[in-house]
Parts: sequence; C-alpha cells; structure tokens
Amino acid sequence: MSENPMKPYLGRLVEVRDLATEIKLFRVELLNGGQQAFCDCKPGQFAFLSAFGLGEAPFGIASAPGRGPYVDFAVNRLGTVTSGLHELDEGDMVGVRGPLGNWFPMDAFKGKNLVVLGGGIGGAPLRPVIQYVIDHRSDYGSLTILWAARHPSLLVFTDEYDEWRKAPNTRLHLTVDTPDEKWDHSVGLITDLLKKVAPSPDNSVSITCGPPIMIHYVTRLLSEMGFAPQDNYVTLEARMHCGLGKCGRCNLGEKLICVDGPVFTMADIGSLLETYL
Ligand SMILES: Cc1cc2nc3c(=O)[nH]c(=O)nc-3n(C[C@H](O)[C@H](O)[C@H](O)COP(=O)(O)OP(=O)(O)OC[C@H]3O[C@@H](n4cnc5c(N)ncnc54)[C@H](O)[C@@H]3O)c2cc1C
Ligand code: FES
Repeated sequence: MSENPMKPYLGRLVEVRDLATEIKLFRVELLNGGQQAFCDCKPGQFAFLSAFGLGEAPFGIASAPGRGPYVDFAVNRLGTVTSGLHELDEGDMVGVRGPLGNWFPMDAFKGKNLVVLGGGIGGAPLRPVIQYVIDHRSDYGSLTILWAARHPSLLVFTDEYDEWRKAPNTRLHLTVDTPDEKWDHSVGLITDLLKKVAPSPDNSVSITCGPPIMIHYVTRLLSEMGFAPQDNYVTLEARMHCGLGKCGRCNLGEKLICVDGPVFTMADIGSLLETYL
C-alpha cells in the first residue's frame, strides 16, 4: 500500500470490455509504485477504484497475482462511481487504492478439494482463486465450480469457461434462474445445483460469493452437507468509506468487513450472517 493509505495510485486502463449486461472488465496498468504494491496481492483482497471527480468505491481484485503485470476488476453499473467508470475507455486514468483486506489462505488450502460457488458479479473475487488453483494445479485436489446468474446474459467470464473445463481434475457447473433458447445447462437456483452436484465435504473447503441471500442459503446448505464452519468460506461486501478500519461504516456485529474480512469462515461469523441479509 502507498505511504498514505488514503492516497490512490494512478492507473491506466489498458483494456475495457463488456463481461455481461451492465458489467465491464477493467484491466489496469498501475503507475507511480502501484505495480510493486499490487504484485503480491492475494486472491480475495479488494481495492478502491476512483472515477476522478465522482468518488471511489471498493471492488474485489479479479485477477490472480502471477497472471501478468496488470490488475483486473469487474464492475457492475449501479450508481455514481460505477456509472462513471463505465463511461471510461482504454487509455483513460483511474485511481487505485489498496490492496486491502484479508485473503483466502491458498497455502492452507493445499492438498484439499475446493468447491467454489459464485453468483452473478460475486464471481469477480472468486476468479483469482480459480486462476491461482489452475496455475498451481498439482498443489490442490479437485476443483468444483458452481457458477450462477439470473440470466445467461449476466454470467461473468464466459470466455474463460473452456480454460477452466480443460484444467485437470476441474468441473464447471452452470445454472441460471431464467434460461434463453440457447441455454443447455441447469436451470434453477444455485442451491438446487449444489444439491445435484453434492460435493463431498471430506478434505474439502467451500468458497462462496454472491448476493447476501444466496450466501445465506448456500452456506446453510453446505453446513447441512457436512462442511465444517471453519471450512465454509465466504467473502462479504458492505458500504465502505475508509477501507482501513477507521470509520466503522462496514461493521458486521463487532467485525469490520474491510479489515477483519472481506474473507470470513462461518466459524468466524456464525449467526452474524443473519444481520448481513
Ligand atoms: C469488498 C467489496 C468488494 C466488492 N467487489 C465488487 C466487485 O468486484 N464488482 C462490483 O461491481 N461491485 C463490487 N462491490 C460493490 C461496489 O462497491 C458497489 O457496487 C459500489 O460501491 C457502488 O458504488 P456507486 O457509487 O456506483 O453506487 P452509489 O451511487 O453509491 O449507490 C447506488 C445504489 O446502490 C446501492 N449500493 C451501493 N453500494 C452497495 C453495496 N455494496 N451493496 C448493496 N447496495 C449498494 C446504494 O444504496 C444505492 O441504492 C464490492 C464491495 C465491497 C465492499
Ligand atoms: S470502511 Fe471504514 S471501517 Fe471499514
């Protein structure tokens, strides 16, 4: 992080492309020391992106360290900052403040089977986990990806599914709530898909990110399937201001999502998840 943690690095957009309806991928080249700060960022961390003149907002880092000199973000257009970012194009500048927060303990996951469950834009902070496992494939057991969206047009990283499917000992399962005429995968909620796929909890960890209601039901189902609270990982969001544990804006009970998270296990948060809904 920069010496002044509130001061963003400058970033140049080297690629901007549509990922899904109202979701764009921003590939950022970090300048003025930012590249060094982000080169060993960890899967699960986040950063604030600023659209100059409009403000800043937090986003999960969507690329694994080791995948090149750039950092990716997937941004869903929602309000002021995200709409401002969506107006930008390749060559334009943004501010990037981070990396922030904790991360998935990829070393502790070595030798284990991973079950990764992403809903909609919630897939963004999970992409570095998937990339990291693929890049260090022999260090991990099976990789089972359950990927969901309301509609096929809202699925993120579709152009990478072939790479994921081709990786050894890796399975990708897709589902949408409402299919279109070309859809030939599962239809229904991710919980229905999870029941169908029924991954074994033996020597396994699960990692879930998506809308709060999805996280609630998925983690509950995983627990019923035998995933122990300490093996049932989530990554959470909140309205944030400082991202540094100073303003108290992002609290979940006594936890602060920006510094105690965004990655938690169900052993960390347990019934606090009820207040996240
Ligand atoms: C750790 C973390 C990681 C995140 N990762 C991503 C990511 O990878 N991609 C992505 O697109 N978004 C991500 N978000 C959410 C993102 O920060 C918000 O969408 C963004 O702050 C909205 O800013 P805005 O100025 O466009 O919206 P605003 O103008 O501030 O708000 C527009 C509307 O959206 C609502 N809103 C704003 N933020 C949130 C929120 N966090 N949850 C629910 N409703 C909200 C507001 O209440 C308002 O109704 C993440 C958030 C956190 C905390
Ligand atoms: S955003 Fe300020 S304490 Fe978390």
